[in-house]
Amino acid sequence: MAFHYMFLLTIFLLLPLSTIAQSYKNVSLGSTLTTSDVTKFWPSPSGDFAFGFQRSGNGSSGFLLAIWFNKLKEKTIVWSANRNNIAPEGSKVELSVDGRLVLTDPNGQETWARDTANAGPAYGAMLDTGNFVLATSSSGILWQSFDEPTDTILPGQVLNQRSRLVSSFSSTNASSGRFELFLDGELALHTIKYPIDVTNSAYWSTVTGGSGNQVRFNQLGIYLHAANGTLLTLISSSNETNSTASQFYQRAILEYDGVFRHYVYPKRSSSGRPMAWSTLHSIPDNICLLLPQNLQREWVACGLNSLCSMGTDRRPRCDCPIKYIFNDPKDKLGSCRRNFPEQDCKVESRGAEAFTMHEMLSTNWFGGDFEYYADVTEDWCKQSCLNDCYCVAAVHHPGKECWKKRYPLLNGRTDPEEASKTFLKITKDNSTVGPTTTTTTNTTPRSQAGEKRKNQSSVIISVSVLLGSLVFTLMLLALLYVFKLKGRYPKKFSAYQAVPGVNIRSFSYNELEEATNGFEEELGTGAFSTVYKAILNDENGKIVAVKKLHKTVTEGEQGFLAEVNSISRTNHKNLVQLLGFCNEGQHRLLVYEHMEAGSLADLLFKDSRLSWSQRVQVAIDTAKGLCYLHEECSNQIIHCDIKPQNVLLDENLTAKIADFGMAKLLRKDQTRTTTKIRGTRGYVAPEWFRNMPITVKVDVYSFGILLLELICCRKSYKQDVANENEMILAEWACDCYRRKELHLLVGDDEEAIEDIERFEKLLMVAIWCIQENPALRPSMKEVILTLEGSVEVSIPPDPFSFIRFV
Ligand SMILES: *[C@@H]1O[C@H](CO)[C@@H](O)[C@H](O)[C@H]1NC(C)=O
Ligand SMILES: *[C@@H]1O[C@H](CO)[C@@H](O)[C@H](O)[C@H]1NC(C)=O
Ligand SMILES: *[C@@H]1O[C@H](CO)[C@@H](O)[C@H](O)[C@H]1NC(C)=O
Ligand SMILES: *[C@@H]1O[C@H](CO)[C@@H](O)[C@H](O)[C@H]1NC(C)=O
Ligand SMILES: *[C@@H]1O[C@H](CO)[C@@H](O)[C@H](O)[C@H]1NC(C)=O
Ligand SMILES: *[C@@H]1O[C@H](CO)[C@@H](O)[C@H](O)[C@H]1NC(C)=O
Ligand SMILES: *[C@@H]1O[C@H](CO)[C@@H](O)[C@H](O)[C@H]1NC(C)=O
Repeated sequence: MAFHYMFLLTIFLLLPLSTIAQSYKNVSLGSTLTTSDVTKFWPSPSGDFAFGFQRSGNGSSGFLLAIWFNKLKEKTIVWSANRNNIAPEGSKVELSVDGRLVLTDPNGQETWARDTANAGPAYGAMLDTGNFVLATSSSGILWQSFDEPTDTILPGQVLNQRSRLVSSFSSTNASSGRFELFLDGELALHTIKYPIDVTNSAYWSTVTGGSGNQVRFNQLGIYLHAANGTLLTLISSSNETNSTASQFYQRAILEYDGVFRHYVYPKRSSSGRPMAWSTLHSIPDNICLLLPQNLQREWVACGLNSLCSMGTDRRPRCDCPIKYIFNDPKDKLGSCRRNFPEQDCKVESRGAEAFTMHEMLSTNWFGGDFEYYADVTEDWCKQSCLNDCYCVAAVHHPGKECWKKRYPLLNGRTDPEEASKTFLKITKDNSTVGPTTTTTTNTTPRSQAGEKRKNQSSVIISVSVLLGSLVFTLMLLALLYVFKLKGRYPKKFSAYQAVPGVNIRSFSYNELEEATNGFEEELGTGAFSTVYKAILNDENGKIVAVKKLHKTVTEGEQGFLAEVNSISRTNHKNLVQLLGFCNEGQHRLLVYEHMEAGSLADLLFKDSRLSWSQRVQVAIDTAKGLCYLHEECSNQIIHCDIKPQNVLLDENLTAKIADFGMAKLLRKDQTRTTTKIRGTRGYVAPEWFRNMPITVKVDVYSFGILLLELICCRKSYKQDVANENEMILAEWACDCYRRKELHLLVGDDEEAIEDIERFEKLLMVAIWCIQENPALRPSMKEVILTLEGSVEVSIPPDPFSFIRFV
């Protein structure tokens, strides 16, 4: 009896298959499917595939209009119409009498449709290949799902030139994700940036000299063919013969993790293989090891500050390092952020005692560098980062190299083959910044130089400079000596002439202490100095700025006098004027003209915004000041630290460059250098990392970043943005320019919107300035001509297509 029941049951279970096969008919015009009954769908003749509604993701309330493998318990989806616009309960799909395939929401609103251009299809059909077609009565195909792949291709399907597959967002969210497979001469994998849909450089590609024209997928494998049909390359083999291949289902999918995988699934359990999808081939084999062309601006597998590692299941995973958390908890491939307050550069002690360096073996981040040292110990590397408020991590290579990293960290990986060790700076205590707080890059002063640095093998650029100005320095020393002997300090501005034609006053410490009222009012702090407001009573109450250098400045007396020397010989309306100095015992101070309106950083990034026309003027002023330093003063001066904090504005909002005295004079014949990198993260030119000569073009680069900040009115790096592709301004601005989506950059700035042509022009100038290749960057003189409108700007190339970073 039991046997009979079993037998009947078996018959019953087998029945639906044959029923479907028999009951199959073409989908006739006027047919509909609704989300309320997902057991109804349009199957293919064999029942292998079906077209209809599938619940989207796990536990989601919405539906995908999809095609899926209908005989598998997983119901693997291979195509969908509305991945970015999930259909709510109550939606309906109809093959209308006028031959349109239409998806409507519960209110009857059309949300997706495929028209057959009034060619009047006779029927629709779900084919056994997994292709849904709209066809004429003579079976001419008017529309087919194979022409609009989402993330999957099937045997029998081809990809023609310029077709693409886009990964889904996650394993449970079918929305468009970050990765794309694109055929354009070569078959290549790219990351995409949202919201502007630009592709980054490829992280994997075929190499056929651009003759790839069609991807064909058949039972035996996936192939790339040339336009004349010649087979160019095998992408993936099914590892089967003609006779065995028919025993398996196959699909190839660009998955949410950026890997293109070729899968098989046995049709019957007799084959001895597991009844599940198994991977035949993964492209690339290990995505964690792949680096983008531009390490400082692009990333591949995992987002910013994240670490990629290959699991035992051969799937990449992204993990946030200790004390870092995901920006968006739902996006496990996305960026991580610090979950602790960053080290404060303004505190004299730098608060280093609150931090510790967390050691991570076999770990490296391949982007975010701002300083490089050769031949240093691990311990030195670690300590140097701990004591540097800009440093968030230090990577030490076995070759005794030390790379100090700024925030954000890019292209991180943990891999057994990785020889480097990373020290990550984290807080000792358990304080967090909470879920909504954002930490934007602190772009205040230049990176603080640890005292030890001097002892290291790195050549300090300033050495040659010091030698160059030794004669002058000795002269100055001699003069000072004379004054000291006599116990007399010149009281009047005009009374002291160190060099013929240069008026500069020497102050006593007491005078400046008095003038600043005991160093009461602080105007600003940098890594090397603090600036105070002072009133010179003996000069009719003139207000000046007194810059007090910290005791930790290592350059010593000669460095100080060299600075005084170089600054005193510059004179330009767009440079902050040096009025005097004090060099007494331990005390080293500089007296500058006071700039009423403060620094550009204060005006640009805080509430009281500068207007568009004021910003344009600031750009021109700054360019003029820089041009003077580069081309017009007797000794060419490379500033090395152009940034909004170093551009000050007077009461008329005339911009003047400050801190150029801190920049070292470079002899014009200065050649290659493996010196420490100088300047501020976010603004330093790539030459510093590439063993290339340092020229005035490093300032042009920094100016380009500053110009972007000026026109877009935001910082070069911002964590608090709607989309992570907007974080790095240079990158985002170039994308918007390429896509002609300037409105995204302008925002709601009415004045700039009305002046959009000029905005575009300035943007183009900025893109020229930030070219990776210094030879392509214009000189500051050329920049002025274009900013003022007397010279047209040509279309800038993509700035990031220069050299691969080694
Ligand atoms: C579907 O319609 C086409 C054209 O009318 C016809 O050739 C084909 O046999 C039909 N298929 C089925 C299964 O009815
Ligand atoms: C779907 O969700 C349920 C409950 O939340 C969970 O147990 C299951 O593992 C999930 N399935 C997948 C494939 O994520
Ligand atoms: C899927 O991802 C997209 C893109 O991030 C997001 O907008 C959407 O809300 C996600 N959907 C679900 C159901 O989580
Ligand atoms: C077909 O095109 C490929 C690539 O363009 C070329 O190398 C090959 O010689 C061509 N073959 C024929 C038969 O034209
Ligand atoms: C496999 O079959 C296809 C067509 O069905 C044929 O073109 C091809 O030559 C066969 N390959 C082998 C290795 O038998
Ligand atoms: C391909 O087939 C060979 C021989 O049957 C087998 O050893 C190998 O593991 C197969 N490769 C894959 C990726 O399945
Ligand atoms: C931080 O948390 C760890 C583990 O939860 C705990 O052992 C430690 O005492 C905490 N430290 C402080 C300073 O609270």
